[in-house]
Amino acid sequence: MTTRVTVTRAIPVEGIDLLAQAGYEVVVNPEDRDLTSEELLRAAQGSDALLCMLCNRIDRTLMEAAPRCRIYANYAVGFNNMDGAAAAELSVALTNTPDVLTAATADLAWALLLAAARRVVEADRFTRQGRFENWGPKLFLGADVTGKTLGIVGAGRIGTAMALRSRGFDMNVLYCHPRGHETLERETHARRVSLDTLLAESDFVSVHVPLNEQTRHLIGRAQLQQMRPTAILINTARGPVVDEAALVEALKSRRIAAAGLDVYEREPALAAGLTELDNVVLLPHVGSATRETRSRMAVMAAENIRAFLEGKRPPNLVNPEGWQLR
Ligand code: GLV
Ligand code: GLV
Repeated sequence: MTTRVTVTRAIPVEGIDLLAQAGYEVVVNPEDRDLTSEELLRAAQGSDALLCMLCNRIDRTLMEAAPRCRIYANYAVGFNNMDGAAAAELSVALTNTPDVLTAATADLAWALLLAAARRVVEADRFTRQGRFENWGPKLFLGADVTGKTLGIVGAGRIGTAMALRSRGFDMNVLYCHPRGHETLERETHARRVSLDTLLAESDFVSVHVPLNEQTRHLIGRAQLQQMRPTAILINTARGPVVDEAALVEALKSRRIAAAGLDVYEREPALAAGLTELDNVVLLPHVGSATRETRSRMAVMAAENIRAFLEGKRPPNLVNPEGWQLR
């Protein structure tokens, strides 16, 4: 039987080529949409490996119903869409695409921060509508970024890259993380503080934690209350880390000044009222969406599958327990 790899959305060709060159039969979803859960199940049942997207739910039911598929290679760094415990039990390998998208995602977090602080999107809409009639001393007043305090919630790879980029803006950096981060402290004079302190003292709060049961609604109503009325919240991590309904309320009542969001609690649905607000910049989950980064992610996901199918440990295994059990 030939070895079949199914790719659940058309990714950059470098990744597909790598799999084809290894001699596998590569099936790529021809549609410009996600597979339905039934299609995903059939794809997994008929494949030795699945190269899957962050919106594909890789749960116990799927893994148990598809014994042929022994590896799910996520085309994302986040892997909250996969059940790691079930995979470990079933000796199924799960992989992700770390590092290659760190810079692109940190860049996008900065794009959101600057856009929200300086009201870039709102002002663009105004200009396009032909409403720019006079230069005005009070036209689209925003907030300074330079010299302000940046609070990083989660100093992993992306949070650290976000913080390092603040050096060009002479910012004070606070961060919240389970452990101290030597490089970050050395390079930015960052101070590790509690979440309470970070929220109370930051002008910009940028969220970079992975989604898990400990981080769901980490930023809820109470935390938004602790922020400064001039503060701006940025989320490029995962939507459910922020209570989106509470955020809509906080933005509407100007409890906080603004927000920049790339991710949502029930993607692709948005919380009621969000699109009616001017003080929020909304992006459609495009943190890693650069040509270069998406190509590198494609190669990385394909290499994880190839290593696995050749009997080697995939370089970006997220559940080493599953590997040891084989
Ligand atoms: C994108 O959200 C990713 O996790 O790569
Ligand atoms: C989050 O995904 C990180 O790598 O920091």
